[in-house]
Amino acid sequence: MADPVETLQPHVLIFPLPAQGHVNSMLKLAELLCLSDFHVTFLVSDHTHDRLLRHTDVHKRFEHYPKFRFQTFCDGIPAESARSGNDFLTELIVSLKTVIKLFFRELLFRSNCLSSETNRPVTCMITDGVLSFAIDIAEEMGIPIIYFRTISACAFWAYFCIPQLIEAGELPFKGNNLDVPIKSIPGMEAFLRRRDLPGICRTDDLNNPDFQFVSTETRQTTRAQALILNTFEDLEGPILSHIRIRMPNVYTIGPLHSHHKTRLAATAPPMVATTTSNSLWEEDSSCITWLDAQPSQSVIYVSFGSIATITNRQLMELWHGLVNSGKRFLWVIRSQLVTSGDGEAQIPAELLEATKERGYVVGWAPQEEVLDHPAVGGFLTHSGWNSTLESIVAGVPMICWPYFVDQQVNSRFVGEVWKLGMDMKDTCDRDIVEKMVKDLMEVRKSELVQSANRMAELAGKAIGKGGSSFCNLDRLIEDIKLMSMQSPKIT
Ligand code: UDX
Repeated sequence: MADPVETLQPHVLIFPLPAQGHVNSMLKLAELLCLSDFHVTFLVSDHTHDRLLRHTDVHKRFEHYPKFRFQTFCDGIPAESARSGNDFLTELIVSLKTVIKLFFRELLFRSNCLSSETNRPVTCMITDGVLSFAIDIAEEMGIPIIYFRTISACAFWAYFCIPQLIEAGELPFKGNNLDVPIKSIPGMEAFLRRRDLPGICRTDDLNNPDFQFVSTETRQTTRAQALILNTFEDLEGPILSHIRIRMPNVYTIGPLHSHHKTRLAATAPPMVATTTSNSLWEEDSSCITWLDAQPSQSVIYVSFGSIATITNRQLMELWHGLVNSGKRFLWVIRSQLVTSGDGEAQIPAELLEATKERGYVVGWAPQEEVLDHPAVGGFLTHSGWNSTLESIVAGVPMICWPYFVDQQVNSRFVGEVWKLGMDMKDTCDRDIVEKMVKDLMEVRKSELVQSANRMAELAGKAIGKGGSSFCNLDRLIEDIKLMSMQSPKIT
């Protein structure tokens, strides 16, 4: 006899990788699902939760939703870890495969044994697209699972095609010429080079744990019922059509940060979010006051996200290049950004002088507000996906200096495909920095601003009523309601 179909209240378990870029977008999705009166449990590490409480008003914001709760866990990463640079990725992977997997399994079984009122059964899981152990457990318990990959469609597709690259002999690289074209990724044959592949592909050892992890985990995506991507059809349509051959059900609901804002503003009464920040660092808003005093579109904003690190030498090359460009600059130098690397840099007096005159440095900025500020005319970025989308929505052209993982692919698309800026990957030289900043802020300004404004318009259409992302989010919400019509299999 078939299980009785009962209507459970939708209870969505959302589980991001405990890192800034992942938590940021998935917490915005969580709030959007709360607007549909769903029960939502958001899994987050103690470390991340503490920092959200310390640096944002997240608890006050989520008080509006009595059916929302945080569930914290210990990520097992040593307290002394800097949680930055390449090592952080490796530390995260190790902790996911051990500590976090065990915790997750125990939580699911506890909450789905209908043991008590507080443990409302989970009717759908939305997990980060690198946590395939969650699929194993979802299958065991008969709970539908949807993957949310917080990177771009183009980066996802490059990761997904890694086995084809190996089969075609394009990985590992033979020789060190990074300009050799890559021909085995459908949709990218015309412009992708070795240097534009995800950073982890620059390894001679295909058994490298980071390489293995990202490639294997990405291939598991087809086991999930569907895939959520924080992007929009007018930006990545051609690549999305290739992905949909392997993964037919893809919900493109981005740019999520602006979709989140417009949906909140459309509630009755409108919930104009005081802040939408999910920052894990203290934001220094004095930079907004400084921007208020600068001429329109005169400032280049410089920020490399929450994980990238740079050496002292790179710091000096970037700094000299910015100062020699003669442009105003607002630079985020977060704690742990600069590794000691190649010797302590002596800062020349003229650098400090020029910075006092035309520059402003903060440890962490309210980035969405900065990019929306009329004084900002350009963005020197590491091409993290959240930063890239925020720049696209704000209509701010970019100089891309990718650090690792998906950023190399994003920077190639920004420069070569979407024409929203320039790709400065693999160089860090003061003369090139100076020239690119002048091109961005002066020489090529009107061409790039025009192109950026056109894409910003398309992004606004996608999240507006009837837009592709708006409709996909509504479809996701309806599909989650349907999933709650089946009772979870209790074993
Ligand atoms: C990581 C990976 O590095 C990135 O490539 C991947 O796409 C997502 O996960 P991260 O490096 O932190 O993310 O970069 P990004 O995706 O740009 O996310 C950074 C977030 O921090 C953005 O939402 C940005 O607005 C915010 N930020 C950054 C601030 O709020 N203030 C700052 O000073 C700098």
